[in-house]
Amino acid sequence: MRDSGYHGDLDMGYRGRRMVLSIADSADVAENVVIGAGCQIWHLAQIRENAALGENCIVGRGAYVGSGVRVGANSKIQNYALVYEPAELGDGTFIGPAAVLTNDLYPRAVNPDGQRKDGHDWEPVGVTVLEGASIGARAVCVAPVTIGRWAMIAAGSTVTKDVPDFALVAGTPARQIGWVGRAGLRLEQIDDTGEEWLCTSTGVKYRVTDSLTLEEIE
Ligand SMILES: CC(C)(COP(=O)(O)OP(=O)(O)OC[C@H]1O[C@@H](n2cnc3c(N)ncnc32)[C@H](O)[C@@H]1OP(=O)(O)O)[C@@H](O)C(=O)NCCC(=O)NCCS
Repeated sequence: MRDSGYHGDLDMGYRGRRMVLSIADSADVAENVVIGAGCQIWHLAQIRENAALGENCIVGRGAYVGSGVRVGANSKIQNYALVYEPAELGDGTFIGPAAVLTNDLYPRAVNPDGQRKDGHDWEPVGVTVLEGASIGARAVCVAPVTIGRWAMIAAGSTVTKDVPDFALVAGTPARQIGWVGRAGLRLEQIDDTGEEWLCTSTGVKYRVTDSLTLEEIE
């Protein structure tokens, strides 16, 4: 991997750390892409035109970032993940290996007359992944769908509906099987009503305010 000033700033401070942008020689990065300081773009990754990566992101080998896709700081897009436009990823998001964020709910290669579809023949729809959320390996998020803050999508899931903040979902179609905290571990129920939950890793408590909403309380 080469260290490069290509498309980005070198040595910008992030919490006092030296941040060097590095882009593998074999990566295919469009000219008008914005890549923040400290990003690492690995071999054979493709970053399409007008995409923007915040500081300190990692894009793994063979991963695809579609045109105009926004990726928040400190995010990781793992090997062979496919992030089709117009996806939007918040800060600190994790897109697991070979995960797919789709952009066409009713895909067809051709119009009814048999002619190949072009860009203006269909309306892309996107996946939004909010701050801190994780998409497990080989999961598919079927756009349009929003993955809530700090949510966790199990490996191999197929997400067809919005996922609440802090929800753990699994399966095809994905169903909620629990709650997770910021650390990514399952929360443990600490009262009889099922309203209060604890992260045993961080000690942070959470409260369920309705079946779809979990909030940090202390
Ligand atoms: C979902 C996940 C977080 C659950 O971990 P966990 O809390 O330790 O869960 P358990 O292993 O105790 O499993 C709990 C239940 O969920 C099921 N389950 C676990 N992972 C699942 C998955 N990926 N898809 C469907 N069901 C799953 C288990 O079979 C079990 O079901 P049961 O109660 O009927 O026996 C974990 O299995 C996972 O998928 N992590 C993502 C890994 C990944 O993709 N990493 C990317 C970097 S390589």
